[in-house]
Amino acid sequence: MSVGKNVTRTEGRDKVNGAAKYIDDYRYPNMWYGKTVRSTVAHARILAVNFSPNFDWSQVVVVDYKDVPRNIVALIFDDQPLLAESLVKHVAEAIVLVAAPTKELAEKAVHHIEVVYEGLPAVLSIEESLAVKEKIFGDDNIFKQYTITKGSVEDAFQSAEIIVEGTYHVGHQEQLYIETNGIIATAKNDGSLLIEGSMQCPYYVHRAIKEAFQLADEQVTVIQTVTGGGFGGKEDFPSIVAGHAALLSRKCGHPVKIVYDRAEDFAASTKRHPAIIHHKTGLTRDGRLLAAEIDITFDGGAYCTLSPVVLSRGVIHAVGPYKCPNVKVSGRVVATNTPPNGAFRGFGVPQACFGSEMHMEKIAKTLGISPVELRRKNMLKQGDITTTGQQLNYSVGTQEVLDAVLERSDYLSKIEQFRQTASDNKRRGVGLSFFYHGGGFTGSGEEKIKGKAAVQLLANGQVEILTASTEIGQGVKTIFRQIVAEELAISENSVTFGKSDTSKVPDSGPTVASRTTMVVGKVVQMAAANLKAEMAKIIAAKAGCDASEVKFANNQITYPNLAQPLSFAQAAIDCLKEVGELKTMAQYSSPPGIKWDEINYTGDAYPVFSYAADVVEVEVDLDTYEVKLLKVITASDIGKAINPAMAEGQIEGGTVQALGYGLCEEVVWKDGKILNNRFTNYIIPTAQDVPEMETILVENPYPYGPFGAKGLGELPMDGGAPALVAAINNATGTFITEIPATPERILAALERS
Ligand code: MOS
Repeated sequence: MSVGKNVTRTEGRDKVNGAAKYIDDYRYPNMWYGKTVRSTVAHARILAVNFSPNFDWSQVVVVDYKDVPRNIVALIFDDQPLLAESLVKHVAEAIVLVAAPTKELAEKAVHHIEVVYEGLPAVLSIEESLAVKEKIFGDDNIFKQYTITKGSVEDAFQSAEIIVEGTYHVGHQEQLYIETNGIIATAKNDGSLLIEGSMQCPYYVHRAIKEAFQLADEQVTVIQTVTGGGFGGKEDFPSIVAGHAALLSRKCGHPVKIVYDRAEDFAASTKRHPAIIHHKTGLTRDGRLLAAEIDITFDGGAYCTLSPVVLSRGVIHAVGPYKCPNVKVSGRVVATNTPPNGAFRGFGVPQACFGSEMHMEKIAKTLGISPVELRRKNMLKQGDITTTGQQLNYSVGTQEVLDAVLERSDYLSKIEQFRQTASDNKRRGVGLSFFYHGGGFTGSGEEKIKGKAAVQLLANGQVEILTASTEIGQGVKTIFRQIVAEELAISENSVTFGKSDTSKVPDSGPTVASRTTMVVGKVVQMAAANLKAEMAKIIAAKAGCDASEVKFANNQITYPNLAQPLSFAQAAIDCLKEVGELKTMAQYSSPPGIKWDEINYTGDAYPVFSYAADVVEVEVDLDTYEVKLLKVITASDIGKAINPAMAEGQIEGGTVQALGYGLCEEVVWKDGKILNNRFTNYIIPTAQDVPEMETILVENPYPYGPFGAKGLGELPMDGGAPALVAAINNATGTFITEIPATPERILAALERS
């Protein structure tokens, strides 16, 4: 028994005692250091790049766009150059690269390079972009738009007894992984490239490097080193760092390391998309949803990157986990002259969910009914149909999570109790949110990826997992070992996790989208099942029995007429003697009956959804408008907790990240430039701010996940902010519609109401 056990984190010891080698710990003989010259303006033509005569340029190498075989960062639209050519579209855009034998010299060289610009009008907000103040992408500044239609909202608004409208705003959020971006590239004499570094998706980097350098598959090797967090921020961005390091390595003929400092990483890398969300909802007087018309606009930043996919997930989740017969969701992502926004845990859903959950609060307030009753009346249950027409046939833990969180938090009596205990300058409040997250890629995404994984027997009788799914702090190394151990009925100590190296592991698809355990974990389980079948065949042939008579249990193998059970390790060694090597693969296939219509945006948007409910208790100081978090209770239906302690840890971490999003994390801009790109002034919750947390795991098994597991990583990020703001609203009697709910915004809301 391995699944369901709190197995110790595989790489935990090395991370704690310092043995883990992050990319900045690597030093190669004759390694050079790379630095980036970046745009200081939001939108401009580059007139000249001047190299000061007061510097000895023979000691360094310099690279610009002319050195790039194909100057793109390959992803979706290929609109982003690896290095700017004649135009810069955002502050911190990379223009020129320098490498030198020391970091100090590279830094010094950068200070002797001057870029001369001719300024162009910059588009710095969603509003300016929609008004086409300046055309910066196509004719309308729109990267992508989607509309989802179900029934007729127009007709339903006619018959609705009540119509409630609201507009909600969310800002940027920085992933703030503890380890900044870093890559070492080594250009080999034969033209091939080796890329090592901090990343989520080795095969994304592999593809981007292949495209930019016009190389074949086997000419590029990408190896992930120990990675100190990603949260989506290392999904596509490392492709740029890798491209830059590779250009420099080719030019100077040495391995080149580029490791960003915090300020550079913060200024240049992707963030969560800001959004404006408008809801118009038609209801019966007793609170039944009849029609939902929702309009969402995301700020994509200067280049498309992953924005269409973020938007797609946002519009699909826009209604929330509620049934509504008539829906129209219109969404678009627009271009602005700010650094491209991209993947961040939740991937469009935290924005959509803030809109839908704050709007549910508004509806409850307008109708004078309890927020709980409103949710109960409209929540999706097994058999119900979602916005895209997906029938939820299994693993719908909506009632369980809501019941569990209400019971444990005592939400209803807290509302009463806090009303009575209000003191002069302190108010307490409690807030609820109820939400869902589709696991895996959207629509036919998983069908297109067809994620692969393999397992193989090692000479010592252990089993090695080969997958491109990377450890980014979420625990994949532990979880996959548990899954394989369970399938083979062996101890997780007999299972190892192979190096994340594109020359060794099959493409499992990216480490994103809450798909690692649920989708790739299942493929890994299937690969282990195939290994078991192969071993049984080999053993049976030797023993002269039928393969079905070979049994795997308790670390042992038995078959008829065997005097003493064989240890799994011994059996593995015996099998290797017979066949030399034994490696089995598996590939993802969708659950039966899944259908998705890409044109009309209807059908099964995700293989399955995970569900959760949060209750947050706060105390608001009416003199300073500071918010103190008192207690947070979450209940999450994740299908099955492969490792309950790690599942709880991930939910706690994601919830804290969500509370930071709602409470204090604010990127401050001036003329397209970030003013607070430091830990000292971009404020995230620390251990001191984190309140008592209770984490309830609900296990409503997903029949096609590994041992019933479904997606977990992003879910906790979705619901923290609306529950927090609902609590602040409850405490102060105001209605805040914009996050982060800083003291300034709370004061402004109170002055309005
Ligand atoms: Mo992601 S936000 O790494 O799907």
